[in-house]
Amino acid sequence: MIPPFQALVTCPAGFEFRCVSELERLLREEDPFVEVEPTYFKGVVVVRSELEPEEIVERIREADTDWVARAVPIHRTVRAELDAIERAAVALARRRLDEDTAFAVRCRKRGQPPFGRRDVEVRVGAAVQEATGAPVDLEEPDYVVRVEVLQDTAGVAVIPPDLIVRKEVKRVRKWSPGMRPISRAQLKLRELLKRHPYLVREGWSAIDLGAAPGGWTYELARRLRPGKVYAVDPGELHPRVRELDNVVHLRKRAEELSGEDVPERVRLVTSDLNRVHSEAAAITLDVADRFLEPGGFVVQTVKLAVDPETGEYAAPDVETAVSEVELEYERRGYEVLAVEFLKHNTPKERTLVARKEG
Ligand SMILES: C[S@@+](CC[C@H](N)C(=O)[O-])C[C@H]1O[C@@H](n2cnc3c(N)ncnc32)[C@H](O)[C@@H]1O
Repeated sequence: MIPPFQALVTCPAGFEFRCVSELERLLREEDPFVEVEPTYFKGVVVVRSELEPEEIVERIREADTDWVARAVPIHRTVRAELDAIERAAVALARRRLDEDTAFAVRCRKRGQPPFGRRDVEVRVGAAVQEATGAPVDLEEPDYVVRVEVLQDTAGVAVIPPDLIVRKEVKRVRKWSPGMRPISRAQLKLRELLKRHPYLVREGWSAIDLGAAPGGWTYELARRLRPGKVYAVDPGELHPRVRELDNVVHLRKRAEELSGEDVPERVRLVTSDLNRVHSEAAAITLDVADRFLEPGGFVVQTVKLAVDPETGEYAAPDVETAVSEVELEYERRGYEVLAVEFLKHNTPKERTLVARKEG
């Protein structure tokens, strides 16, 4: 059996090792002990990590990757036997499904286990329906019970369908050497600064929260020089960012920032934390309250994300997430100037711009 894993990733056959290095580089920023391994199946690698399965795939979704075709979170791995798969699926479904949430079972089978894909779908479908009372909807389910069989091992997950990440494999390089952005996020900030050029000015300083790998920090550092960018993130910064002389990497969580870390008032706080929207807003505003000059600006990505504690989205839709964040900004004395849906935002993300009163 393959030891337990938290995500299954597919890539073009023959490129497994490139995919492994790409994922290790990406995920080590958040989990230094992450293990990514090829399997004996072509084009399939597995991720073992202390991160939540949802966090792993979201991280992969957000990164600019070359080799990933699909990433599926896995909540539990069991022996690939119908009884064991059924038990795991029912246990997971009990926590997430009820009479008002429709589901579908989808099985992918690799290798030659002594049962077919349909056997799994029919058996697990009936058992989950009986245990939870949830209706089956094969066209538009709220949740998918996903079973990934790799010969004698099966990975099982119960997830909203859009948590399965599908990406374009870039065998043909899109960027010429040296021009490749540090992260997809970098393109968001570039686009935002085109729309709101007043947010940056030579000589201003900024705090960038959730800075790694450093796309935003890079864009800010170039525009604010000789002002400084305090890049706050426990994760590594890209070498191109590390070499900038006006970047100070504070390798810690935003909640741990002290007056010694940032010995000046800044004109801008940016925040691209991969946290649930309300948490990200609270963390960002705590920092802005302490370090931002009155009249200074805040830029925050508002993400509709899965709450790792409940396994469910933290708001019904992105608009609700944005309204909740706007209310919190206003309650704390910040004027919301704009909420942008940028070309490089994902469908579940918006970028908020605000100003501290005073
Ligand atoms: C989407 S990435 C940021 C990408 C970045 N803006 C760029 O342009 O490259 C989100 C980052 O938030 C960081 N993060 C999450 N929670 C954090 C916290 N409490 N304090 C600091 N960083 C945090 C993660 O380590 C991760 O690197």
